[in-house]
Amino acid sequence: MDALAIGPATRVLVLTGAGVSAESGVPTFRGAGGLWEGHPIEQVASPQGFQRDPTLVWRFYSLRRAAMAGIVPNPAHRALVALEQRLGDRFLLVTQNVDGLHRDAGSERMIEIHGNLMTSRCTTCDRPPFRDTTAYADGTLPLCVLCSERGVTALLRPHIVWFGEWLDPDHLARVEAFIGAGGHDLLFIAIGTSGLVYPAAGFVEDVRYRGGRTVLVNAERPENARAFDAVHLGPAGELLPALLGCGQ
Ligand SMILES: NC(=O)c1ccc[n+]([C@@H]2O[C@H](COP(=O)([O-])OP(=O)(O)OC[C@H]3O[C@@H](n4cnc5c(N)ncnc54)[C@H](O)[C@@H]3O)[C@@H](O)[C@H]2O)c1
Ligand SMILES: [Zn+2]
Repeated sequence: MDALAIGPATRVLVLTGAGVSAESGVPTFRGAGGLWEGHPIEQVASPQGFQRDPTLVWRFYSLRRAAMAGIVPNPAHRALVALEQRLGDRFLLVTQNVDGLHRDAGSERMIEIHGNLMTSRCTTCDRPPFRDTTAYADGTLPLCVLCSERGVTALLRPHIVWFGEWLDPDHLARVEAFIGAGGHDLLFIAIGTSGLVYPAAGFVEDVRYRGGRTVLVNAERPENARAFDAVHLGPAGELLPALLGCGQ
């Protein structure tokens, strides 16, 4: 397979989804039928679900945190690090994944638009989100210690963008600025994501509008495959090192 043409002026925007972590052993949701222990995924990943049953939600995220033990980045994550090192500020990675594997691999110019599994935040005060790898014991509801010191009982919640919640407008602005920063030599690569839903669908249209190239690397052909100039079907961990010419 020929490597993608990436010249000295090419700017590369990458979007990754759950598929890029599949070969590391992180399950995709849809692969499991969109259910978790019989619960529709929205029940454990929405503000309404958290209001109704925070214990269930914390159980779900605690298990997901625990399941990350021993999980390491795969050649797809590493190929993206190598590309970033080659391109510097002409590279931007946007990930829908919350598993932190891109950061573990060494990616720096990276936006986690759906948050991070190992980060929590207070539901009440405005302390910044903080690293929290705790898998809370079943039935435990973690409280904010800063609020407790003020005599306020406030739950922590995972720093994850749930169904029905908005993406951080600063994140989207950063992506738009990158896309709009001039020049037609723009390449968009979507990896391990169906590419059908917002924001992926929006990025691909934006890049096309500006005359850029669009490439999809995915295990299966999505319905909007025609929005991409090229579609490479197969496992990201095998295809990406070849496509990005970093031969791992
Ligand atoms: N690792 C994580 O952090 C993680 C895991 C599950 C879900 N999520 C997030 O939840 C939301 C919905 O998740 P979803 O699972 O439906 O993801 P999705 O809609 O992004 O779809 C995953 C895509 O990856 C493809 N895929 C599977 N294995 C692949 C591989 N080895 N190489 C290339 N492509 C592969 C599938 O064909 C599918 O089209 C997304 O935001 C997703 O990123 C994140
Ligand atoms: Zn607090």
